[in-house]
Amino acid sequence: METFIIKADDKEGLNKAALALRNGTLVAFPTETVYGLGANALDPMAVKRIYEAKGRPSDNPLIIHISDIKIINKLVLEIPEIAKKLMNAFWPGPLTIIMKRTELVPDIITAGLDTVAIRMPQNPVALKLIEKSGIPVAAPSANLSGHPSPTTAQHVVDDLKGRVEYIIDGGPCNVGVESTVLDVTGEIPVILRPGGVTREMLERIVGKVEADTVIEVKDGQKPRSPGMKYRHYSPKAEMFLVSGDNDKVIEHINSMTDKNKKSGLKVGVLSTRENIDRYTADTVISVGSINSPADIAANLFDSLRKFDEKNVDIIYSETFSEAGIGKAVMNRLKKASSGKIIKV
Ligand code: TXA
Ligand code: MG
Repeated sequence: METFIIKADDKEGLNKAALALRNGTLVAFPTETVYGLGANALDPMAVKRIYEAKGRPSDNPLIIHISDIKIINKLVLEIPEIAKKLMNAFWPGPLTIIMKRTELVPDIITAGLDTVAIRMPQNPVALKLIEKSGIPVAAPSANLSGHPSPTTAQHVVDDLKGRVEYIIDGGPCNVGVESTVLDVTGEIPVILRPGGVTREMLERIVGKVEADTVIEVKDGQKPRSPGMKYRHYSPKAEMFLVSGDNDKVIEHINSMTDKNKKSGLKVGVLSTRENIDRYTADTVISVGSINSPADIAANLFDSLRKFDEKNVDIIYSETFSEAGIGKAVMNRLKKASSGKIIKV
């Protein structure tokens, strides 16, 4: 299949993609979090193509993206009061809300669950595409299953060229990590995946919010968000996180670098900008300043993908504060490293 790349300001191209999307074709598009791989959410055959194109396990449900709040009544049985407050505060934006679904939502989207995940993205190109297509749009991140999520159109090309008809290029995503997935079906809302909207932000609007205790990979325990059980966001090389006092972290990573180089391995380091000159590894990638957690989030997946280009054999990464958006960043890094943390 040929893949057409459409610039976000190409009006005619966008119209064409919106019509194709409505008619069952896959269209990758930018959102403020990561690029999404969209299909008509009301067309089970179209949604099936998403799973095929990504190589995604069929037990991992998809998020439905909407541009207008009105359609939501067709998709969910009821909108809890808490959800209404959250939609007012954070939509459009990086918050996905899980509610009880109606019969209209195809089983293939929810992987058979009786709930559905819904979000209204903030990116104007995403909103325009959904609006023009006139349908709710099912979309996971537009990467091959297991790879780091795409934050540029080029990342989508790298993973899905020949597997998707249209890719809309809207430049780099500004948040850089995926939406927060929040279940509001119980008394107290539960974060199933930390993301662009932080727990503190949610609690300011609705009071107490819990976090699923099995968000990180733990043997034998099942997270409530099916997607969180898979190894994810991973560069090809094995990755280790190193945490502790800054000088000790650098010292440890350099001594491991020495050892690995002696056995002929190519070493990569994911570093804060302030530390890049202090490492002896073959490839040192700056993910942003320690003082700018938002930049670290925005650069994270692009940095992980760069290690693949450089063909490193092993990667060491610094760790970051889990305050605010740092929670989502550390969640993705823990998954990328399968939870291998060295404390020094
Ligand atoms: O920012 C985002 O959320 C991006 C952009 C494209 O919108 N999308 C995204 O989708 O990250 P995906 O498919 O890569 O991740 C969706 C997550 C998965 O962990 C999935 O298991 C969870 O949401 N999920 C979806 N429906 C669910 C449901 N009914 N119950 C629990 N978890 C659900
Ligand atoms: Mg994903």
